[in-house]
Amino acid sequence: MTQRPYVVDQMISAKTIAARIEDLAREIETEFASVDKLVVVGLLRGSFVFIADLVRELNLDVEVDFLEASSYGNATESSREVRILKDLRGGIEGRDVLVVEDIVDTGHTMKHVLGLLNARKPHKLRSIALLDKPSRREADVRADWTGFEIPDEFVVGYGIDFAQHNRNLPFIGKVRFTED
Ligand code: IMP
Ligand code: MG
Repeated sequence: MTQRPYVVDQMISAKTIAARIEDLAREIETEFASVDKLVVVGLLRGSFVFIADLVRELNLDVEVDFLEASSYGNATESSREVRILKDLRGGIEGRDVLVVEDIVDTGHTMKHVLGLLNARKPHKLRSIALLDKPSRREADVRADWTGFEIPDEFVVGYGIDFAQHNRNLPFIGKVRFTED
């Protein structure tokens, strides 16, 4: 599929993201203050930049693991069916776990992943999403912490892609098509 031409307009600057992550890290430290080791689970691929910045801001002993769930193909449409493409390396039974997601959009991915991980009987399971689009919600789910609530725009950057483009932008921007 050939990509329609578009530009990316900055929506949230790198500086604003960094400041928000500092605040979120303090809240997460409080929530997990008594924990020996926190298992931080990044949902691939969109959360890879966020998880890297978040764990470096956390004054906690952390273990990092990854899970990949399918959601979008090379299009801006969400599929309702969520499949696990790559499972965790480690077990989480009895462990304290923080799931790190880039965006909660319809909510199907987060709901499915939390259900799957909960079935493994963690001691405590919490979730954080950098971005939330509440107006798009279909599944009844909400991250315990959210970086920013955003309107129904297709965003890229800071790990988030549009058909595997723009993940390396240091800020969050919205896609604007330049032809119609
Ligand atoms: P959900 O299952 O509809 O909540 O979709 C969640 C996943 O869709 C996120 O983890 C993203 O990977 C992807 N997604 C949702 N909105 C956007 C967007 O605006 N840009 C890029 N990816 C998105
Ligand atoms: Mg994702």
